[in-house]
Amino acid sequence: MAVVTHDGDSLPRALQTPLLELLGCEVPIMNAGMGGVARSELAAAVCNAGGFGCLGMVRESASRITEEVTRLRARTDRPFAVNLIPAATAPALLEQQVETCLELDVPAITLFWDVDRDLVKELKQRSVLVLHQVGSRADAQHALRAGADVLIAQGAEAGGHVRGDVSTLALVPELAAMARVPVVASGGIATGAGLVAALALGAQGISCGSLFLATREANAHPAHQRRICDAHAEDTLHTYRFYRNWPMAAATRVLPNGITRGDYDHLRGLREPPVIGEQDGQPVYLFSTDSPLRDATGGVTAMALYAGQSCGQIDTILPAAACIRQLLEQARSALDQLQHDTIGKAPADSIGRAC
Ligand SMILES: Cc1cc2nc3c(=O)[nH]c(=O)nc-3n(C[C@H](O)[C@H](O)[C@H](O)COP(=O)(O)O)c2cc1C
Repeated sequence: MAVVTHDGDSLPRALQTPLLELLGCEVPIMNAGMGGVARSELAAAVCNAGGFGCLGMVRESASRITEEVTRLRARTDRPFAVNLIPAATAPALLEQQVETCLELDVPAITLFWDVDRDLVKELKQRSVLVLHQVGSRADAQHALRAGADVLIAQGAEAGGHVRGDVSTLALVPELAAMARVPVVASGGIATGAGLVAALALGAQGISCGSLFLATREANAHPAHQRRICDAHAEDTLHTYRFYRNWPMAAATRVLPNGITRGDYDHLRGLREPPVIGEQDGQPVYLFSTDSPLRDATGGVTAMALYAGQSCGQIDTILPAAACIRQLLEQARSALDQLQHDTIGKAPADSIGRAC
């Protein structure tokens, strides 16, 4: 029987992966749980377009989590996830975050960075679906041993914090061959052709960050969105220069700015670096890992302008639903082209003229 999305179009068979039933969504597309950026407006828009919405709640207070989950549920009745990063969160706060998610009956949690085995086990015991983003085979093994239900394979092309060194193209097939659970591909994907490629590599879906940052519903600053739309893959940098509020040295992928050019290097290591702006009613410090949010004021362009190499495929800010529709249309046409064996074949009359 053909699976029909709520738009009324039938979903190509190749896109009807078992992940859809596990997550309770219609199309194999998730928004990455981007801290500050992926709040209820974006996650609900993704859910209502048939995707799997995720709230980026790293280091957020219990009251913010309650507020965002409540707002999300007022906008959609579909399942969703909350993203937490145990290694980047003070233990007492993490405990409150987890307790709050459990009290709110959050259906799924996506985790990232070091695998917190006890937390994964606790969530599983409480019947929460656990998706773990990993950047290597070793982390994948830890997550699987702990009981994760889904692996999100993050390639080094990814925007934001980058866990590993292996590309999405190489990581996905290795994890898909190893894991009995579904693998979702993340990093460098922003088109339907990328979705089809990920599925061909053994993934059952994709998780996109930069693509959804450049949507109307994202809580990102317009200057950050514009930079993503204007950038090409080669413009992004893999850097350790953003370190404040992460407890360990961690790589990030960003677009260049004063920080990456070293303009403020003489201020590195200060116990109290200067405040460069404000957002969410809080100061933003120089070298902070917080990216500029919609309401950010001050030195917005000196904040962490996270972007994956996928930025080269993004040139317009769309509503999230239009973005998902576009991914599906592109996926249909990529599948069609593959089926009709036209990819990479130069038209006969062009032979001999190519340079
Ligand atoms: C602005 C931004 C913020 C991010 N914040 C988080 C986060 O809080 N938690 C997380 O697990 N991943 C975070 N990531 C990484 C994403 O989960 C994902 O791996 C990445 O966006 C994939 O690459 P892409 O941007 O090319 O799609 C962030 C990415 C971006 C671009």
